Amino acid sequence: MQIAVMLVIAYLLGSIPTGLWIGKLFYHTDIRESGSGNLGATNSFRVLGKKAGIAVTVIDILKGTAAVLLLHLPAFQDAGIHPLTLGIAAVVGHMFPVFAKFRGGKAVATSGGVILGYSWPFFIVLIASFLIVLKLTKMVSLTSMAMGIVGLAYAAVNYFMTGDLYLLVVIFLLTAFIFYRHRANIGRIKAGTEPKVKWL
Ligand code: G3P
Repeated sequence: MQIAVMLVIAYLLGSIPTGLWIGKLFYHTDIRESGSGNLGATNSFRVLGKKAGIAVTVIDILKGTAAVLLLHLPAFQDAGIHPLTLGIAAVVGHMFPVFAKFRGGKAVATSGGVILGYSWPFFIVLIASFLIVLKLTKMVSLTSMAMGIVGLAYAAVNYFMTGDLYLLVVIFLLTAFIFYRHRANIGRIKAGTEPKVKWL
C-alpha cells in the first residue's frame, strides 16, 4: 500500500504541466498551440521567453528530484522501493500528465532531475556535457538525445566500478523514452529543418 501511494505521488509530481500552467497563468498563452507544440522547457523558452523558460526548466527538473527524494520523508523511509523506481513514475507523469490530457513533455528535464536526486556528480557530468553539445550543435533536441548516450556511458562505467546495475537499466529506459519522444525532432533533424537556438 505504502509503495502504491508513493508511486502515485511521484506520478502526480511528474504530471504537473509546468509549461502549460505558467504559460496560461502569466502569459495567457497555451504553449501547445505554438512552436513545437511541446509542453517542455525548450518550447517554453521558444514561446514564452527566457524567464519562463528558466522557471519551467528548474521546476521540471525538481519534479524528478522531489520524486526520488520522497524516501527521505519519515512516513516513507521504510518503504522497500528503489528511489529510481519513483523517478520512472515521475518521468511517466511528465510524458503522460493526468492534468493535461496525457499530452506531456519529452522526458528530458525530469529525467535530469531524477539523476540529480540520485547522484549529483552524475548530474554535473550531464549538465556540463549538455552545455558543450548544445554549444556545438545549437539543437536542444539533438543535445537531449546525446545526453541519453552520455548517461548510458556514465552508468555503464559506474556499473563496472560499483555494481549498480539498476542505475544502468533505468538510464537505458529513460534514454529509450527520450528517443521515442523525439521522433518528430529526428525527422526534422534529418530534413535539416530542426530549429536552432540563437542565444548560444
Ligand atoms: O526537451 C525537449 C527538447 O529536447 C526538444 O523540444 O520543443 O524543440 O521539440 P522541442
